[in-house]
Amino acid sequence: MPLIRLDRFISERTEYTRSTIKELAKKGKISVDGVVQKSSDMKIDPENSEVKIGGRLISSQRYRYILLNKPEGYVCSTDDKDGETVMKLVPEEWRTKNMFPAGRLDKDSLGALLITDDGELAHRMLSPASHVPKIYIVKLDRPFQSKYIDIFKNGVVLPTGELCLPARLRPVENCDKLAFVELHEGKYHQIKRMFGAVGNSVEQLARVSVGGLILPEKLAIGQCMELLHKDVENLFSDPDFDLICRNFSGFFRHFQ
Ligand code: URA
Repeated sequence: MPLIRLDRFISERTEYTRSTIKELAKKGKISVDGVVQKSSDMKIDPENSEVKIGGRLISSQRYRYILLNKPEGYVCSTDDKDGETVMKLVPEEWRTKNMFPAGRLDKDSLGALLITDDGELAHRMLSPASHVPKIYIVKLDRPFQSKYIDIFKNGVVLPTGELCLPARLRPVENCDKLAFVELHEGKYHQIKRMFGAVGNSVEQLARVSVGGLILPEKLAIGQCMELLHKDVENLFSDPDFDLICRNFSGFFRHFQ
């Protein structure tokens, strides 16, 4: 196993940045195999070294977190019985045995999708109790009506009788068929069914954020980027809905 720098080992497995790690090392808070290390650029064996920060053991297990800007036409699954899966879009050198898409976007949807082998994080993120907010931009078949805003705010009742949690809705200025939606849950085809319940229908849909993790503008459709542990923690912070609506109002150029 090749040796790697101590600061890299820690930053790949914890929320600490390299500069914080340097400071912690200087303060004598980091030990490797029981010996305090004041310099964070030393090399260690990532599989067999016992690294502790302030007494906390840093697991040698390194999870992978990939953010994909999902294109249309791929299913969010590891099983290709229903068509090509998003796993095909992850570069081979980033793939690990237990990786899976954490969450679902429909085959015809675009946008932010986390792919990981960290089952515990995925569970935490997808658990109904966590209510991680997700923001989408949708293109409607018919013009947006302002009455939708209160209907979504009060909780849409789906034709099945299911009640949706309150959702934020905002039309895109000067585009009468585009709107942003913020959901705190993930029912099957939820946005399509919500607009169906108010007599409209969704032509295209893209997810622009998951919690505080926002789709970077530079990440082209179909491309992946690897996330660091500290980026992943953003999943559990709240997004700024107003800022996202402002920044993504041009996203519709990706819609046909
Ligand atoms: N709601 C939908 O209807 N489809 C998606 O892909 C995501 C949310």
